[in-house]
Amino acid sequence: MNIYNCWLQERIVKNTAGLPLEKVYAEKGGLIAKQAVEEYRRGVKRLTGITPAVLPVKAGNNSKIAPGVFLGTYKGFEKIFQITTNSFADSSADNFTDSSAVSSAEGGFYIKNKDGNLLIAGYDDCGLLYGVFRFLMQLALDRDGPFPDIQEEPASPLRIINHWDSITGLVGRGYAGRSLFFENNRFDYNKERITDYARLLASVGINRISISNVNVNNAEKLFITKQYLGELAKIAAIFRPFGIKLILSVSFAAPMSVGKLPTADPFNPSVITWWKEQTDLVYSYIPDLAGFIVKADSEGEPGPFQYNRTQADGANVLARALVPHNGTVFWRCFVYNCQQDWRDHSQDRARAAYDHFMPLDGSFDDNVILQIKFGPYDFQVREPVAPLFGALKKTRHIMELQITQEYTGHQIDLCYLPWIWQDIIKFDTAYGPDSRIMDLVCGNKDTSKLEGFASVVNTGRDRNWTGHTLAQANLFGYGRIIWNPALNAEEIARQWSDLSFGPGPAADTVTDLLLRSYPAFEKYNAPFGICFMVTPGLHYGPNIEGYEFDRWGTYHRADAHAIGIDRTPSGTDYTDQYAPQNAAVFADPARCPENVILFFHRLRYDFIMKNGQTLLQNIYDTHFEGYDEVEAMLEKWKSLKSSLKEEVYKPVLARFERQLKNAREWRDQVNTYFWRKTGIPDKRGRMIYD
Ligand code: GCU
Repeated sequence: MNIYNCWLQERIVKNTAGLPLEKVYAEKGGLIAKQAVEEYRRGVKRLTGITPAVLPVKAGNNSKIAPGVFLGTYKGFEKIFQITTNSFADSSADNFTDSSAVSSAEGGFYIKNKDGNLLIAGYDDCGLLYGVFRFLMQLALDRDGPFPDIQEEPASPLRIINHWDSITGLVGRGYAGRSLFFENNRFDYNKERITDYARLLASVGINRISISNVNVNNAEKLFITKQYLGELAKIAAIFRPFGIKLILSVSFAAPMSVGKLPTADPFNPSVITWWKEQTDLVYSYIPDLAGFIVKADSEGEPGPFQYNRTQADGANVLARALVPHNGTVFWRCFVYNCQQDWRDHSQDRARAAYDHFMPLDGSFDDNVILQIKFGPYDFQVREPVAPLFGALKKTRHIMELQITQEYTGHQIDLCYLPWIWQDIIKFDTAYGPDSRIMDLVCGNKDTSKLEGFASVVNTGRDRNWTGHTLAQANLFGYGRIIWNPALNAEEIARQWSDLSFGPGPAADTVTDLLLRSYPAFEKYNAPFGICFMVTPGLHYGPNIEGYEFDRWGTYHRADAHAIGIDRTPSGTDYTDQYAPQNAAVFADPARCPENVILFFHRLRYDFIMKNGQTLLQNIYDTHFEGYDEVEAMLEKWKSLKSSLKEEVYKPVLARFERQLKNAREWRDQVNTYFWRKTGIPDKRGRMIYD
């Protein structure tokens, strides 16, 4: 494995299917189609050593020419190969046998054997690009036997990466070095590296990117001005051939900070005009910009509340400026009171997003997309899925995940996130049939308004992109699972390990490590969905009462007898924000899933859990087990010493060693905390410190 190349490794594969890889016939196409041909050429060279010759596709009888790989579009191949294009209702079908039917969704593609040729066709140019990457992935996986026919289309139209980079070079919640784009208060990047980055992202289907933080600092506020637009246009140009469009982070108060107006009130005519003119300017530099992302009225960022306007009033003023350019406002729903008084038990931060946004369903313009964190808090190791999902009927929205490991071990600890994402994606919102998140995102595009995913990314200037080399699996996994939510975490781990290490015993071990990592992390972290026992600010390592007397609204209120917040109708009534069926389940401690039971309930330590043990004993047990599992993972990694290059083996070893220390702190601090509170010892007499 070469750590820089991630899942696009150089490897001589066998081409057991005997594909005619040497000749590629390419239909004439635009920028992205040309890139697809280039990716085919590079990819085949990378994997097989063959340099393919690129020839034009000719209409008419292609049986007279030497067999080859044909790259083109459904339309083109319809004429040349008489393949009829029908729309596919079932987007999850991986292989298709009916030769007359192919997908028609944007970004869709098919790969098909025909008369000794291999056809890779896209519904559009992006589809062709994805088809080429999918073909290369299959080739690298080097399965025996004939090359399979494949047909796919992306479940999620929007597959977004958010960077929280600052022009200083610092990456917000970044654990993989400095920014890929900025340093020293200016754009500073290696063009080749950004091209490689675009390739990596496109290879797993990413189609939108924002490169700077949603907390918009003074310098970045000027990104929408002439001072920086030229630079941004250059970045957009690097991503463009890969089908990835830029999104810009903007400040709601830009009319004041940039435009020098006395107000940013969305109803003020000069503010409306300012946004319109500024947006026109932005699009004169980047005509295909996807739009703006805004964090408003959130953790100190300005917003419409300041002017007694609603979130819809705020979003719509930007949306209207974007309409002439087909742009979109991505409006984040992370709106809550971060100045809460811990003494006040009547407020519940978990309620905030729903309370603010649900009453506004239907008030947002068509080109506003709400960006909602997957849970009601903030990317905790385990939270319930936020109640806005399934409930919003008239407002376009996407789900926000977090690839960067802010609360899941800072890319020091191994924590394979598709494990949790698959649970989130399978969560049934209980709004009628087919209302799991995966159904809503893949469902009827006319009725379901969930259009995809965005995620804060885990990449930086470190040579391996992600700090922890195995954290590459999280970036890969994000792309794969939002492309096809029917994939499970295990298949994705297997694919990533095989692509990165080459199929074999090392990849088997790595797959196993990835799959064990999330359950282990969850066990030594905060128990049973209680959340926030983490070091304030930093968010690595335990500090059990770190947020207890703070302003952030994230309390567990443990005393000598009980822990948790009652969020049932007898408490804050947060459960009532869910569909009735889910509300009833969550409100009943006997039926509430145990991994989130402390999110919904205040329970006595002697509460009996499903395994017959008390809550307290379960807290002790999971923390002992979590540590033991990390110890076992470290040993397992050591078993790979002789089969891995040092640049792969050593830094990961060092991280596992740090993880073990971290797990030890979590285990002992959490267990000691509860032992001190309760005076009840561990039933099994293991060491709990005084
Ligand atoms: C978390 C994170 C912040 C970030 C915020 C957000 O609170 O700690 O750094 O800005 O999420 O999503 O906007």
